[in-house]
Amino acid sequence: MTRGYGDFHSHLAPGVDDGSPTMEDALHSVDRMVGAGVRRIVTTPHMPASLAREPRRFGAFLDRIEERWAALRVLAVREHPELDFRLGAEVRLDTAEPDVSDPRIRLGGTSFVLVEWAGFRAPTGSPEGPVADSGWRALRTLRDEGFLPVIAHPERYAGIDAGLDAVRAWKDAGAFLQGTYGSLVGQYGSVAQALIRRMLEEGLLDYLSSDFHGRPRYVLYISQGADKLRQFGGDRQLDLLAKENPARLFANQSPLPVPPLPVEGPLAALRNWAEGRAAAASLQMRGAS
Ligand SMILES: [Fe+2]
Repeated sequence: MTRGYGDFHSHLAPGVDDGSPTMEDALHSVDRMVGAGVRRIVTTPHMPASLAREPRRFGAFLDRIEERWAALRVLAVREHPELDFRLGAEVRLDTAEPDVSDPRIRLGGTSFVLVEWAGFRAPTGSPEGPVADSGWRALRTLRDEGFLPVIAHPERYAGIDAGLDAVRAWKDAGAFLQGTYGSLVGQYGSVAQALIRRMLEEGLLDYLSSDFHGRPRYVLYISQGADKLRQFGGDRQLDLLAKENPARLFANQSPLPVPPLPVEGPLAALRNWAEGRAAAASLQMRGAS
């Protein structure tokens, strides 16, 4: 069965955040995503979790994003009848007690919610030890309430250790991880590029999405990122991260495990060369004896 990509992190609702400014830009962006093979989209306007504490402002925000998304959806689906186009939010965890009970800020009405750490910085502390950071408490709050947090772009936060212990702790605490296509080809610099590769080599990522900010002059990066993953020998990983697991998320099902990406590069090449030399030497010795 051929399935398209499912992309649940984008900023397309016109005029609500730093994504698409106009309906025309938003529609053009949807066309580009569909052209890249995307068949399921959740668009996710930025929102601080603390906004939910202010009922009037929160209500106005929800009405606005829903109205803009619904208007875009009518036009997008007219153009692309096969497209499953839903609404969510990218919730910045700026409070220890986020309230995501309104389905409009969850991913397409599922139990999943896309979250990002405040200040683009990984939380300190750990779920077991003394809780040193509101980020951890926020994650716990979400899990205790039965929601399924997906951490946006884990490769792009400051404060991630080289051994990825912080990232493993997020997964142990019950979060899923969404990497960004652009990171695979250096859109966010060499550190994010190296980190996403390591996360793939350790099988830590659950999903890929674009985080596309919906403007004509912005590069979309889905095709480039997918090509890079294939170059790494990651065809199966791409299928899981970009198609199968997003399709499961749309159906409110947990992701399947993604096998670690084969480790390649100069060190692996050197190791293969050394192993080849050792094997050849061993054969020669056996031949001589
Ligand atoms: Fe985003």
